[in-house]
Amino acid sequence: MDKPAPQLPQTLAPAAHPAPPSGVTSVVHIPRQWFAVCTTSDLRRKPKSITLQGIRMVLFRNKEGVPGALLDRCPHRNVPLSGGKLVDGDLECAYHGWRFNTAGACTKVPGLCRTHGAESRRTPGFACRELDGFVWVWSTANETPTSEPFRLPMLDEPGYTTVRRSVDFPGTLQATVENALDVPHTAFLHRGLFRGAGEPNRIQAHITRTATSVQAEYLGEPRPEGLVGRMLSPSGGLVSHWDRFLLPCVAQVEYKLGDENHFLVTSIMTPVDSHLTRAFAVFSFRLRIPGWIVKPFLTPIALKIFNQDARILIQQSEASDYWGGERYVSTEIDILGAQIQRLLKRAADERLAPDDKPWSKEVALDA
Ligand code: FES
Ligand SMILES: [Fe+2]
Repeated sequence: MDKPAPQLPQTLAPAAHPAPPSGVTSVVHIPRQWFAVCTTSDLRRKPKSITLQGIRMVLFRNKEGVPGALLDRCPHRNVPLSGGKLVDGDLECAYHGWRFNTAGACTKVPGLCRTHGAESRRTPGFACRELDGFVWVWSTANETPTSEPFRLPMLDEPGYTTVRRSVDFPGTLQATVENALDVPHTAFLHRGLFRGAGEPNRIQAHITRTATSVQAEYLGEPRPEGLVGRMLSPSGGLVSHWDRFLLPCVAQVEYKLGDENHFLVTSIMTPVDSHLTRAFAVFSFRLRIPGWIVKPFLTPIALKIFNQDARILIQQSEASDYWGGERYVSTEIDILGAQIQRLLKRAADERLAPDDKPWSKEVALDA
């Protein structure tokens, strides 16, 4: 006879309900912020369905090519507008042919003789911007934005090479941002590719937080011994290294070695829904070795690192759901995780006052 299944302590029992109890999940919904939802080249002359923070939207370009975003639901009978087509720069619903402009106003109802009452036929719209190769959407409907989207640095700097890639990570925004900026896992999960090829070194992290960002500056760090590090600087030396998170969605890793070598990865993270985060990664670098030589080697290694991260994030997500939410135990070398969580929670909950008291901390770690 099979042995009875072991009894799990109450706190470790799987959740009875699929939704984790409140307070133990990093899923947030952030209002009144800009998020990049697709690249400029992904939005052509056809409506495009996208999802931001679980909300389905339709993107399309008007006659002048300017993008607009509407809720992907026709106000008439709720058919998705993304199944329609563009007519004279307006979006025409596939069911009865109602048309909408990029501001969400209904411009035509086929067969309707009267024109009054148009306001009730309006559909919610989201402010849009097209900048640095991305289409950005303001996350609250029917609002005039109070800020402008993040601008990508180094794009037009002479001597810099830029490589762009987008990757889907099956994790919450918080877990994905923490992963992008987490030093200790690089020597372990990506052993040999970036760190972990040699003996660890004692380095110092100087962490600073503002109301909208957190940064770790690493001091005394030798050039990482893995493949990427050796490619970026064959002769070694001490590097300057910063990891930073800028609300609501930008994770940056920056390395400098001497005056010649500068490497910056900016990942614009888009919370598609509660467990899927799309990272638009932009690598900008200026190295002693010409960019056109580095590019073909760098791209497959970066994709391999991303795949290793994606595989671990899906395991983290599934385990958190199975065990009824996130219960993390951290140490001081989980340098940015708690600060990222704090910033995201405050951005998501408008009842919390912004925390603009500057804050800093020093941590020693072996990396
Ligand atoms: S459902 Fe869109 S026009 Fe009727
Ligand atoms: Fe990683």
